[in-house]
Amino acid sequence: MKRSTVAELLSSNNFLNEVTIKGWVRTFRANRFIALNDGSTLNNIQCVVDFENTSEATLKRITTGAAISIKGTLIESQGKGQNVEIQVNQIEILGDSNPEEYPIQPKKHSFEFLRENAHLRIRTNTFSAVMRVRSALSFAIHKYFVENGFYHFHAPIITGTDAEGAGEMFQVSTLDPAKLPKTESGAIDYSKDFFGKHTNLTVSGQLEAETYAMALGKVYTFGPTFRAENSNTTRHLAEFWMIEPEVAFNNLDDNMDLAEDFIKSVISDILKNCKDDLEFLNDRLLQEEKGKPQIERSELSLLEKLNFVIENNFKRVSYTEAIDILRNCKPNKNKKFQYVINEWGADLQSEHERYLVEKHFKCPVILFDYPANIKAFYMRLNEDGKTVRAMDVLFPGIGEIVGGSQREERLEVLQQKMKDLHIDEQELWWYLDTRKFGTAVHSGFGLGFERLVQYTTGMGNIRDVIPYPRTPQNAEF
Ligand code: 4AD
Ligand code: MG
Repeated sequence: MKRSTVAELLSSNNFLNEVTIKGWVRTFRANRFIALNDGSTLNNIQCVVDFENTSEATLKRITTGAAISIKGTLIESQGKGQNVEIQVNQIEILGDSNPEEYPIQPKKHSFEFLRENAHLRIRTNTFSAVMRVRSALSFAIHKYFVENGFYHFHAPIITGTDAEGAGEMFQVSTLDPAKLPKTESGAIDYSKDFFGKHTNLTVSGQLEAETYAMALGKVYTFGPTFRAENSNTTRHLAEFWMIEPEVAFNNLDDNMDLAEDFIKSVISDILKNCKDDLEFLNDRLLQEEKGKPQIERSELSLLEKLNFVIENNFKRVSYTEAIDILRNCKPNKNKKFQYVINEWGADLQSEHERYLVEKHFKCPVILFDYPANIKAFYMRLNEDGKTVRAMDVLFPGIGEIVGGSQREERLEVLQQKMKDLHIDEQELWWYLDTRKFGTAVHSGFGLGFERLVQYTTGMGNIRDVIPYPRTPQNAEF
């Protein structure tokens, strides 16, 4: 007999049908009612055991976490809270789970505890909901780009360039650290290394994506990126996934339009396709917020926040306007910010970004035209000679979710910029070629996938939206 999933059976009304189902026991109550989950949905299916005709030995093995196989009859449920249930005719224990040892008990566990048990936390409602939403978001992203004429481009993960300046890099090497080959001058001789040169894990696929956009027109990357920053925050990972579209002939305005349309589209997609999971996460967040003082609670529930994003325009504000707002705002004057904003040119910290989004504008904000000297070398210099065509999308509760720009397409300007920043032209000869042969205006951005998952699931810590987080001092599993 074909095996059914819990999701299929819960939406079925083929009553009196014989069914086979396999899954894990969530709870077993009154020696009679099994709540069975197989991951296909947040919801469990109730399986009613005929305990008088089931051996004592078998009943004892129906414990939380055990894998079981059930053959039974699908019936309309007698009890409250579900429409269908299974009358069990035959039960087989596939894998026992010792209740004395199984860490995931049917009670509330702290997220810290569950992080230490990341291989099992996915068996809880919260983490299964988060990871199903993550999977749905990933699909929605690919769908959005394919439907809009983009090609998926696989950027290399090992890179020979370390000039990008997006963050500290992890080295890739097969040299024996105990016996490093040295050059005559005493430096490490990377010509003896695997690739014959110094290599790192990529911090971004952008520079390579630009070369592809200059041939295929519209491309996007969606891959892992690595940053060895020692940032122990709720928004930083050392290994995270980034989506980077790059479009030939797009200017910064087109780039902002794309970012806004893209984010709205994928959020409305999961609002349609992840109803049960999002409702569960919405209620979870309401419960969590009840434990907080009033002023720390968010004004909107999770579902309201998601609907707010798709129904409202993102506010577009220049860096210069933002600095004026920040300079004159109360927390700045009262020195409540850790970094007080005194003058134009200051780099914005997440406290400033969050003030703008959460307190001042109360909606997603796109900041653009940043000072050249706080942004990367490849950004298009404005006519004023001091700002660049950069944009950051800022989200409530998250801060920066997207960073992007119009790229400097003029060879001489780019070369001058690289010279000023001591970036070796030889290392990026292939990048400069795009400006020598058929150069054109082009733009792109990077969206931090985990920050998007954080926003859509309402999870406070980025470590709880990626299966196995990599952070300073932590690479378990
Ligand atoms: O702003 P970033 O550094 O931009 C770039 O890397 C550009 N090359 C992108 C481009 O134009 N193609 O990073 C982009 C986004 C950030 O806005 C943030 O959402 C996320 O990546 N991000 C991180 N997410 C988790 N952990 C970290 N350590 C992150 N660093 C950046
Ligand atoms: Mg950035």
